[in-house]
Amino acid sequence: MDTILKRSWAEPYKMKMVELLKMTTRAQRSRAMKKAGYNTFLLRSEDVYIDLLTDSGTNAMSDRQWSALMLGDEAYAGSKSYYHMENAIQKYYGYKYIVPTHQGRGAENILSKVLIKKGDIIPGNMYFTTTRLHQELAGGKFVDIIVDEAHDPFNEHPFKGNVDLNKLEAVVKKYGAKRIPYVSIATNVNMAGGQPISMKNLKELRAYTQKKNIRIIHDMTRVAENAYFIQQREKGYEKRSIREIVKEICSLTDGATMSAKKDALVNIGGFMATNEWEVFEEARNLVVVYEGLHTYGGLAGRDMEAIAVGIEESLNDHHQRARVGQVEYLGNKMESYGIPIVKPVGGHGVFVDAKSFLPHLTQDDFPAQALAAEIYIESGVRTMERGIVSAGRKPNGEHYYPKLELVRFTVPRRVYTQAHTDVVAEAVAAVFERRKKIKGLRMVYEPKYLRFFQARFEPKV
Ligand code: F0G
Repeated sequence: MDTILKRSWAEPYKMKMVELLKMTTRAQRSRAMKKAGYNTFLLRSEDVYIDLLTDSGTNAMSDRQWSALMLGDEAYAGSKSYYHMENAIQKYYGYKYIVPTHQGRGAENILSKVLIKKGDIIPGNMYFTTTRLHQELAGGKFVDIIVDEAHDPFNEHPFKGNVDLNKLEAVVKKYGAKRIPYVSIATNVNMAGGQPISMKNLKELRAYTQKKNIRIIHDMTRVAENAYFIQQREKGYEKRSIREIVKEICSLTDGATMSAKKDALVNIGGFMATNEWEVFEEARNLVVVYEGLHTYGGLAGRDMEAIAVGIEESLNDHHQRARVGQVEYLGNKMESYGIPIVKPVGGHGVFVDAKSFLPHLTQDDFPAQALAAEIYIESGVRTMERGIVSAGRKPNGEHYYPKLELVRFTVPRRVYTQAHTDVVAEAVAAVFERRKKIKGLRMVYEPKYLRFFQARFEPKV
């Protein structure tokens, strides 16, 4: 029998410019971490070697995007660049009317103000922090209708972003369809670990909501990554291109909010989209209050040019294979060292389970926070806590104790090499070897809102 040789693949680009990084010693990193109050958000980025804090706005642009910047039309009104961006959104996503915004939460603010009345209910496939906050500020209440599997880090369901239609039906029965302005659907659910929704589930949801006359609003921040998973995992989509799958996903929804800082390969930008003229008219009224004129919405002309090119590049099959493939490579490498991670590996990052990594700590020791600090001191790799610190406090002052206590390794697009990825996994393995010696933390400063950004800690002795 012939030997089947496993063939490697590589990125569909090469480097034309590099950004030099400062190399630090362990002693320097220990001092920097102490100064930052054991919170990775408070580190200076120049002290970071490999930055996996977020995939938001941290992408490397292509030569085509950099040259598009020079074509930016910086007119206050009617910028050519706006029409380039509008054209790309209509062509590749298929939505009719576009309102540009400075980033995703700007679009969420406007959309929530237009569609939500006080007392409304917004069911969705898991919350996202800014999305839910804008729904609440507009007077609505978010209800989670994602499948149960999404809340279990080790369940290997291929579509942990799916909606449980029974949960949705119960919400509709309880409140009535009239109080539900829309169902909020994220493609590739961030808080579940970058997990996709299937086309089958979305079609079933569409059939149900059409019967009840309820809209679907699409958080399409990572739609191309979701489309890649559909292509790889869903029957009937093996031979379809990411471009076709993305268009089909969008066609099953009525409008969208987008943070272009992720999928669309830029450093800033976003938009709201809708197929309804009345919704568009109202949003266009509001955008001038909160963002800027309706043909720039807080963006420079050059930003809109870069988005137009980035959208097209994000739909390239080879690009998505390399992007999600790199995250998968990191996840597999960590697993080979026995490190407990959320399964299946997500689209934008690897999530390490701090509870099983540090079983000798209780959640009151802030295990994910402590682990993120240790990983930085070990290697200069910056990650983010997604556990009890991020969850915050209940109105009665007690901590929320979330089921998931995770450290997120978020991979920026087109930024790091496979060798960087190896260094990250090896650093985590080194910390894993000495895990029994890792102590918990004490919170010594706690801000009132979104405490994870600015809280400070000290090691417990
Ligand atoms: N929706 C999702 C699913 C997101 O992940 C984000 C941002 C937003 C909306 C808001 O967009 O930042 O442009 O205002 N996520 C970043 C992260 C911050 O690190 O996960 P934005």
